[in-house]
Amino acid sequence: MKKILKKIFMTIYRVGRTENAKARVKEWRNKFDIHPSVVFFQANETIVRSSGGRIRIAENTYFNRCMIVAGFEASVSIGQWCAIGYNSMISAITHDNEIPTGEHGSRPYSEADITIGDNVWIGANCYIKQGVTIGDNAIIGANSVVTKDVAPYEIVGGVPAKHIRLKASKPD
Ligand SMILES: CC(C)(COP(=O)(O)OP(=O)(O)OC[C@H]1O[C@@H](n2cnc3c(N)ncnc32)[C@H](O)[C@@H]1OP(=O)(O)O)[C@@H](O)C(=O)NCCC(=O)NCCS
Repeated sequence: MKKILKKIFMTIYRVGRTENAKARVKEWRNKFDIHPSVVFFQANETIVRSSGGRIRIAENTYFNRCMIVAGFEASVSIGQWCAIGYNSMISAITHDNEIPTGEHGSRPYSEADITIGDNVWIGANCYIKQGVTIGDNAIIGANSVVTKDVAPYEIVGGVPAKHIRLKASKPD
């Protein structure tokens, strides 16, 4: 009896999670410019949020559990065939350096567009800072904080992210 009840509970739990994930992705697709082929592998643990800025994600891009945040006006644009690793954050808006939390619950902020090209791989645990452009075919190594633009085919890594090398596939 206990086993049967556990099985029923787990089935309801799994169906609930699947339905919740579907609803979240549907809401993001309604709000933002997200191609139908984009995959959110762990939608229940992923956040896609904007206070008014545009979010565009092109075809076949894949997200592991991560966070994508546009600003009030600043946008996030992600190209096609990208892979965004576990626990990474792409945020076009952040707290103000001088006054992180203002009076009366205000939240002073700093924002700027983020543009990520096609075929970009962002490793696990990365933070992509506001205002950064990442060129086509670039790689961001695991645990990086990207504070500056990354060139096409460039591999960068570290805190702050620094040039490692160019990809072997870079055309001459
Ligand atoms: C950046 C990366 C693609 C480089 O791969 P690679 O070329 O095989 O790397 P190597 O091991 O030959 O290292 C090359 C150099 O870069 C450095 N490096 C590698 N990864 C790094 C990282 N994440 N941050 C900082 N430096 C890094 C190495 O220390 C080495 O430096 P050295 O030449 O001074 O010794 C890879 O290390 C990486 O981080 N991949 C992401 C993995 C990941 O997050 N997967 C899960 C999510 S999908």
